[in-house]
Amino acid sequence: MDTLKSYFKDDFLIGAAVNKASIDLDRTLLTEQFNSITAENEMKFENIHPEKDRYDFSNSDYFLEVAKANGIALRGHTLVWHNQTPAWFFEDENGHAVSREILLERMQAHIETVVGRYKGQIYAWDVVNEAISDEEGVFFRPSKWLEIIGEDFIDHAFRFAHAADPTAKLFYNDYNESNPGKREKIYTLIKGMKARGIPIHGMGLQAHWNLYDPSLLDIETAIERYSECGVELHITEMDVSMFRFDDKRTDLIEPTKDMLEAQAQRYQDFFKLFLKHRAKITSVTFWGISDRYTWLSDFPVKGRKNWPFLFDTNNQPKPAYDRVLDIK
Ligand code: G3I
Repeated sequence: MDTLKSYFKDDFLIGAAVNKASIDLDRTLLTEQFNSITAENEMKFENIHPEKDRYDFSNSDYFLEVAKANGIALRGHTLVWHNQTPAWFFEDENGHAVSREILLERMQAHIETVVGRYKGQIYAWDVVNEAISDEEGVFFRPSKWLEIIGEDFIDHAFRFAHAADPTAKLFYNDYNESNPGKREKIYTLIKGMKARGIPIHGMGLQAHWNLYDPSLLDIETAIERYSECGVELHITEMDVSMFRFDDKRTDLIEPTKDMLEAQAQRYQDFFKLFLKHRAKITSVTFWGISDRYTWLSDFPVKGRKNWPFLFDTNNQPKPAYDRVLDIK
Protein backbone atom coordinates (compact mmCIF):
# COMPACT_ATOMS: atom_id res chain seq x y z
CA MET A 1 0.00 0.00 0.00
CA ASP A 2 1.24 3.47 -0.84
CA THR A 3 2.21 6.11 1.68
CA LEU A 4 2.63 9.82 0.97
CA LYS A 5 6.34 9.46 0.33
CA SER A 6 6.01 6.40 -1.90
CA TYR A 7 3.09 7.85 -3.89
CA PHE A 8 4.99 11.06 -4.67
CA LYS A 9 8.50 9.56 -4.84
CA ASP A 10 9.03 10.60 -8.46
CA ASP A 11 7.53 14.05 -7.90
CA PHE A 12 8.70 15.79 -4.73
CA LEU A 13 9.84 15.18 -1.17
CA ILE A 14 7.08 15.03 1.43
CA GLY A 15 8.04 16.78 4.63
CA ALA A 16 6.75 17.56 8.10
CA ALA A 17 7.72 20.12 10.70
CA VAL A 18 8.82 18.38 13.87
CA ASN A 19 9.51 19.55 17.39
CA LYS A 20 11.15 18.15 20.52
CA ALA A 21 8.04 16.21 21.53
CA SER A 22 6.58 15.18 18.19
CA ILE A 23 9.75 13.67 16.78
CA ASP A 24 9.54 10.92 19.40
CA LEU A 25 5.77 10.74 19.97
CA ASP A 26 4.89 10.49 16.28
CA ARG A 27 7.99 8.60 15.11
CA THR A 28 6.07 5.73 13.47
CA LEU A 29 3.84 7.96 11.38
CA LEU A 30 6.75 10.25 10.58
CA THR A 31 9.07 7.57 9.27
CA GLU A 32 6.32 5.70 7.39
CA GLN A 33 4.92 8.72 5.56
CA PHE A 34 7.55 11.46 5.30
CA ASN A 35 11.03 11.79 3.81
CA SER A 36 11.91 15.35 4.85
CA ILE A 37 11.77 17.23 8.17
CA THR A 38 12.02 20.85 9.28
CA ALA A 39 12.50 21.97 12.89
CA GLU A 40 9.39 23.92 13.92
CA ASN A 41 11.26 26.14 16.41
CA GLU A 42 14.47 24.46 17.50
CA MET A 43 16.82 25.97 14.91
CA LYS A 44 15.49 29.50 15.21
CA PHE A 45 17.86 32.07 16.64
CA GLU A 46 16.54 32.23 20.23
CA ASN A 47 16.84 28.45 20.58
CA ILE A 48 20.02 27.64 18.72
CA HIS A 49 21.93 30.76 19.88
CA PRO A 50 20.35 31.60 23.23
CA GLU A 51 23.21 33.73 24.59
CA LYS A 52 25.94 35.85 23.06
CA ASP A 53 28.68 33.25 23.19
CA ARG A 54 26.55 30.15 23.58
CA TYR A 55 24.97 28.02 20.89
CA ASP A 56 22.72 25.07 21.69
CA PHE A 57 22.78 22.39 19.03
CA SER A 58 21.30 19.61 21.15
CA ASN A 59 17.91 19.52 19.41
CA SER A 60 19.16 20.14 15.90
CA ASP A 61 21.85 17.46 16.29
CA TYR A 62 19.16 15.05 17.45
CA PHE A 63 16.90 15.87 14.49
CA LEU A 64 19.82 15.26 12.14
CA GLU A 65 20.55 11.92 13.81
CA VAL A 66 16.91 10.83 13.41
CA ALA A 67 16.89 12.05 9.81
CA LYS A 68 20.07 10.18 8.91
CA ALA A 69 18.94 6.97 10.57
CA ASN A 70 15.68 6.99 8.59
CA GLY A 71 16.74 8.24 5.16
CA ILE A 72 15.03 11.59 5.75
CA ALA A 73 16.24 14.92 4.33
CA LEU A 74 16.67 17.87 6.70
CA ARG A 75 15.62 21.46 5.84
CA GLY A 76 17.07 24.29 7.92
CA HIS A 77 14.67 26.89 9.37
CA THR A 78 15.56 29.77 9.76
CA LEU A 79 18.59 32.09 9.90
CA VAL A 80 17.36 35.68 9.60
CA TRP A 81 13.88 36.54 10.87
CA HIS A 82 12.23 39.48 12.66
CA ASN A 83 10.73 37.06 15.18
CA GLN A 84 12.25 34.72 17.78
CA THR A 85 15.55 36.62 17.64
CA PRO A 86 16.62 38.04 21.02
CA ALA A 87 16.87 41.82 21.52
CA TRP A 88 20.48 41.58 22.85
CA PHE A 89 21.68 40.53 19.42
CA PHE A 90 20.97 43.99 18.07
CA GLU A 91 22.37 45.87 21.08
CA ASP A 92 25.71 46.73 22.66
CA GLU A 93 26.51 46.24 26.36
CA ASN A 94 24.74 49.53 27.17
CA GLY A 95 21.55 48.51 25.42
CA HIS A 96 22.14 50.83 22.43
CA ALA A 97 21.64 49.70 18.87
CA VAL A 98 24.86 48.39 17.31
CA SER A 99 26.21 49.81 14.05
CA ARG A 100 25.56 48.33 10.61
CA GLU A 101 29.13 46.96 10.53
CA ILE A 102 28.82 45.23 13.88
CA LEU A 103 25.44 43.73 13.06
CA LEU A 104 26.78 42.42 9.75
CA GLU A 105 29.70 40.84 11.61
CA ARG A 106 27.33 39.25 14.09
CA MET A 107 25.05 38.03 11.33
CA GLN A 108 28.01 36.50 9.53
CA ALA A 109 29.25 34.77 12.68
CA HIS A 110 25.80 33.34 13.43
CA ILE A 111 25.29 32.06 9.91
CA GLU A 112 28.83 30.67 9.62
CA THR A 113 28.46 28.84 12.91
CA VAL A 114 25.03 27.35 12.27
CA VAL A 115 25.25 26.61 8.55
CA GLY A 116 28.91 25.61 8.87
CA ARG A 117 28.13 23.02 11.54
CA TYR A 118 25.69 21.23 9.22
CA LYS A 119 27.64 21.71 6.02
CA GLY A 120 26.66 19.02 3.50
CA GLN A 121 23.99 17.67 5.86
CA ILE A 122 21.23 20.24 5.79
CA TYR A 123 20.43 20.33 2.13
CA ALA A 124 18.25 23.46 2.05
CA TRP A 125 18.04 26.55 4.27
CA ASP A 126 15.32 29.15 4.77
CA VAL A 127 17.96 31.88 4.89
CA VAL A 128 15.62 34.84 5.26
CA ASN A 129 12.08 34.47 6.52
CA GLU A 130 9.16 36.88 6.05
CA ALA A 131 11.03 40.08 5.13
CA ILE A 132 8.33 41.44 2.82
CA SER A 133 5.45 43.57 4.15
CA ASP A 134 1.79 42.54 3.95
CA GLU A 135 0.84 46.20 3.80
CA GLU A 136 -0.03 47.80 0.52
CA GLY A 137 2.53 50.40 -0.53
CA VAL A 138 5.18 49.14 1.91
CA PHE A 139 7.88 46.89 0.47
CA PHE A 140 9.92 45.55 3.39
CA ARG A 141 8.56 44.53 6.77
CA PRO A 142 10.01 46.76 9.51
CA SER A 143 12.63 44.89 11.55
CA LYS A 144 15.87 45.45 13.41
CA TRP A 145 17.69 43.87 10.49
CA LEU A 146 16.25 46.41 8.06
CA GLU A 147 16.57 49.32 10.44
CA ILE A 148 20.24 48.76 11.30
CA ILE A 149 21.71 47.17 8.19
CA GLY A 150 19.43 48.51 5.48
CA GLU A 151 17.73 46.79 2.56
CA ASP A 152 20.79 44.77 1.60
CA PHE A 153 20.59 42.67 4.80
CA ILE A 154 18.95 39.97 2.69
CA ASP A 155 21.75 39.89 0.08
CA HIS A 156 24.36 39.67 2.83
CA ALA A 157 22.57 36.82 4.58
CA PHE A 158 22.51 34.76 1.39
CA ARG A 159 26.19 35.49 0.66
CA PHE A 160 27.21 34.43 4.16
CA ALA A 161 25.13 31.26 3.95
CA HIS A 162 26.58 30.35 0.58
CA ALA A 163 30.13 30.87 1.85
CA ALA A 164 29.39 28.64 4.85
CA ASP A 165 27.97 25.81 2.72
CA PRO A 166 28.28 26.17 -1.06
CA THR A 167 26.32 22.93 -1.56
CA ALA A 168 23.19 24.02 0.34
CA LYS A 169 20.14 25.27 -1.54
CA LEU A 170 19.26 28.70 -0.22
CA PHE A 171 15.62 29.80 0.07
CA TYR A 172 13.67 32.97 0.71
CA ASN A 173 10.53 31.91 2.65
CA ASP A 174 7.25 33.79 3.19
CA TYR A 175 3.50 33.51 3.95
CA ASN A 176 0.56 35.16 2.15
CA GLU A 177 2.77 34.23 -0.75
CA SER A 178 -0.20 33.74 -3.08
CA ASN A 179 -1.75 37.11 -2.34
CA PRO A 180 -1.32 39.09 -5.60
CA GLY A 181 0.04 42.27 -3.97
CA LYS A 182 2.59 40.51 -1.78
CA ARG A 183 3.43 38.08 -4.58
CA GLU A 184 4.59 40.90 -6.83
CA LYS A 185 6.83 42.31 -4.10
CA ILE A 186 8.40 38.91 -3.46
CA TYR A 187 8.84 38.46 -7.21
CA THR A 188 10.62 41.82 -7.42
CA LEU A 189 12.86 40.91 -4.50
CA ILE A 190 13.95 37.55 -5.95
CA LYS A 191 14.30 38.86 -9.48
CA GLY A 192 16.53 41.66 -8.17
CA MET A 193 18.64 39.24 -6.16
CA LYS A 194 19.16 37.01 -9.20
CA ALA A 195 20.12 40.04 -11.30
CA ARG A 196 22.69 41.07 -8.67
CA GLY A 197 24.19 37.57 -8.70
CA ILE A 198 23.11 36.75 -5.14
CA PRO A 199 23.20 32.98 -4.47
CA ILE A 200 19.47 32.36 -4.03
CA HIS A 201 18.20 29.01 -5.26
CA GLY A 202 14.64 28.78 -4.09
CA MET A 203 11.39 30.36 -2.99
CA GLY A 204 9.55 28.81 -0.06
CA LEU A 205 5.77 29.13 -0.25
CA GLN A 206 4.66 28.65 3.33
CA ALA A 207 1.11 27.69 2.29
CA HIS A 208 -0.75 28.49 5.51
CA TRP A 209 -4.08 28.14 3.73
CA ASN A 210 -7.67 27.39 4.77
CA LEU A 211 -10.88 25.86 3.40
CA TYR A 212 -11.70 29.07 1.54
CA ASP A 213 -8.52 31.05 0.79
CA PRO A 214 -6.47 31.52 -1.25
CA SER A 215 -7.99 30.64 -4.62
CA LEU A 216 -6.41 27.98 -6.80
CA LEU A 217 -5.89 30.61 -9.45
CA ASP A 218 -3.90 32.84 -7.10
CA ILE A 219 -1.79 29.88 -6.00
CA GLU A 220 -1.07 28.79 -9.54
CA THR A 221 -0.19 32.34 -10.58
CA ALA A 222 2.22 32.55 -7.65
CA ILE A 223 3.85 29.24 -8.61
CA GLU A 224 4.35 30.41 -12.19
CA ARG A 225 5.50 33.89 -11.26
CA TYR A 226 8.13 32.78 -8.74
CA SER A 227 9.52 30.16 -11.01
CA GLU A 228 9.94 32.79 -13.75
CA CYS A 229 12.78 34.11 -11.57
CA GLY A 230 14.68 30.89 -12.22
CA VAL A 231 14.42 29.46 -8.70
CA GLU A 232 13.04 26.13 -7.54
CA LEU A 233 9.99 26.06 -5.30
CA HIS A 234 9.34 24.38 -1.98
CA ILE A 235 5.98 24.30 -0.24
CA THR A 236 7.44 24.80 3.23
CA GLU A 237 4.74 25.05 5.94
CA MET A 238 1.51 23.70 4.55
CA ASP A 239 -1.66 23.47 6.61
CA VAL A 240 -5.30 23.85 5.66
CA SER A 241 -7.17 25.49 8.54
CA MET A 242 -10.86 24.74 9.05
CA PHE A 243 -11.49 28.43 9.69
CA ARG A 244 -11.26 31.61 7.68
CA PHE A 245 -8.66 33.88 9.20
CA ASP A 246 -11.25 36.25 10.71
CA ASP A 247 -13.52 33.43 11.96
CA LYS A 248 -13.08 33.46 15.75
CA ARG A 249 -15.75 30.88 16.69
CA THR A 250 -14.74 28.48 19.45
CA ASP A 251 -17.73 26.12 19.78
CA LEU A 252 -16.41 23.13 17.84
CA ILE A 253 -14.88 20.20 19.68
CA GLU A 254 -14.37 18.18 16.54
CA PRO A 255 -14.49 18.90 12.80
CA THR A 256 -17.87 18.44 11.11
CA LYS A 257 -18.32 15.95 8.25
CA ASP A 258 -18.78 18.87 5.86
CA MET A 259 -15.50 20.40 6.98
CA LEU A 260 -13.65 17.13 6.51
CA GLU A 261 -15.15 16.76 3.04
CA ALA A 262 -14.31 20.34 2.06
CA GLN A 263 -10.78 19.88 3.35
CA ALA A 264 -10.38 16.65 1.37
CA GLN A 265 -11.44 18.47 -1.78
CA ARG A 266 -9.06 21.38 -1.10
CA TYR A 267 -6.13 19.05 -0.46
CA GLN A 268 -6.87 17.11 -3.62
CA ASP A 269 -7.01 20.33 -5.65
CA PHE A 270 -3.74 21.55 -4.13
CA PHE A 271 -1.87 18.34 -4.79
CA LYS A 272 -3.20 18.18 -8.36
CA LEU A 273 -1.76 21.64 -8.83
CA PHE A 274 1.57 20.64 -7.27
CA LEU A 275 1.73 17.62 -9.58
CA LYS A 276 0.97 19.74 -12.61
CA HIS A 277 3.96 21.89 -11.61
CA ARG A 278 6.18 19.05 -10.44
CA ALA A 279 9.02 20.33 -12.62
CA LYS A 280 9.06 23.49 -10.49
CA ILE A 281 8.10 22.17 -7.03
CA THR A 282 10.65 19.83 -5.47
CA SER A 283 9.37 19.53 -1.91
CA VAL A 284 6.03 19.75 -0.08
CA THR A 285 6.27 20.11 3.71
CA PHE A 286 3.38 20.21 6.17
CA TRP A 287 3.77 22.42 9.27
CA GLY A 288 3.21 19.45 11.54
CA ILE A 289 2.62 15.69 11.36
CA SER A 290 -0.99 15.14 12.41
CA ASP A 291 -3.93 16.97 14.02
CA ARG A 292 -2.62 15.76 17.39
CA TYR A 293 -0.55 18.95 17.46
CA THR A 294 -0.67 22.12 15.36
CA TRP A 295 0.43 25.69 16.02
CA LEU A 296 -3.04 26.67 14.67
CA SER A 297 -4.61 25.46 17.93
CA ASP A 298 -3.06 28.58 19.44
CA PHE A 299 -3.44 30.97 16.53
CA PRO A 300 -5.25 33.24 15.80
CA VAL A 301 -7.46 32.11 18.70
CA LYS A 302 -5.56 30.89 21.75
CA GLY A 303 -6.61 27.38 22.75
CA ARG A 304 -9.08 26.78 19.87
CA LYS A 305 -8.51 23.35 18.38
CA ASN A 306 -7.90 23.13 14.64
CA TRP A 307 -7.51 20.10 12.34
CA PRO A 308 -5.37 21.16 9.38
CA PHE A 309 -3.52 17.99 8.32
CA LEU A 310 -3.99 14.69 6.51
CA PHE A 311 -3.89 12.62 9.73
CA ASP A 312 -6.31 13.00 12.65
CA THR A 313 -5.64 13.43 16.38
CA ASN A 314 -5.05 9.65 16.64
CA ASN A 315 -2.61 9.77 13.73
CA GLN A 316 -5.12 7.96 11.49
CA PRO A 317 -5.63 8.98 7.83
CA LYS A 318 -8.44 11.47 7.21
CA PRO A 319 -10.63 11.72 4.07
CA ALA A 320 -8.10 14.24 2.76
CA TYR A 321 -5.35 11.61 2.87
CA ASP A 322 -7.30 9.18 0.68
CA ARG A 323 -8.17 11.96 -1.75
CA VAL A 324 -4.55 13.07 -2.07
CA LEU A 325 -3.48 9.51 -2.80
CA ASP A 326 -6.09 9.22 -5.52
CA ILE A 327 -4.96 11.72 -8.12
CA LYS A 328 -2.84 9.75 -10.54
O1 G3I B 1 9.02 27.45 24.63
C1 G3I B 1 8.06 28.27 25.33
C2 G3I B 1 7.67 27.65 26.63
O2 G3I B 1 8.78 27.59 27.47
C3 G3I B 1 6.55 28.48 27.26
O3 G3I B 1 6.10 27.86 28.41
C4 G3I B 1 5.38 28.64 26.29
C5 G3I B 1 4.30 29.55 26.84
O4 G3I B 1 3.47 30.06 25.81
O5 G3I B 1 5.85 29.21 25.10
C6 G3I B 1 6.83 28.43 24.45
O6 G3I B 1 7.23 29.09 23.29
C7 G3I B 1 6.32 29.04 22.22
C8 G3I B 1 7.04 28.38 21.04
O7 G3I B 1 6.24 28.46 19.90
C9 G3I B 1 7.36 26.91 21.31
O8 G3I B 1 6.19 26.18 21.52
C10 G3I B 1 5.95 30.47 21.85
O9 G3I B 1 5.16 31.03 22.89
C11 G3I B 1 5.18 30.49 20.57
O10 G3I B 1 4.96 31.84 20.17
C12 G3I B 1 5.97 29.78 19.49
O11 G3I B 1 5.20 29.79 18.33
C13 G3I B 1 5.86 29.41 17.14
C14 G3I B 1 5.80 30.55 16.15
O12 G3I B 1 6.39 30.14 14.92
C15 G3I B 1 6.52 31.78 16.65
O13 G3I B 1 6.33 32.83 15.80
C16 G3I B 1 5.14 28.19 16.58
O14 G3I B 1 5.33 27.08 17.45
C17 G3I B 1 5.69 27.86 15.19
O15 G3I B 1 4.87 26.88 14.59
C18 G3I B 1 5.65 29.10 14.32
O16 G3I B 1 6.20 28.79 13.05
C19 G3I B 1 6.17 29.84 12.08
C20 G3I B 1 7.35 29.63 11.15
O17 G3I B 1 8.55 29.56 11.88
C21 G3I B 1 7.43 30.76 10.13
N1 G3I B 1 6.18 30.89 9.41
C22 G3I B 1 4.98 30.98 10.21
C23 G3I B 1 4.89 29.82 11.21
C24 G3I B 1 3.61 29.85 11.98
O18 G3I B 1 3.53 31.01 12.77
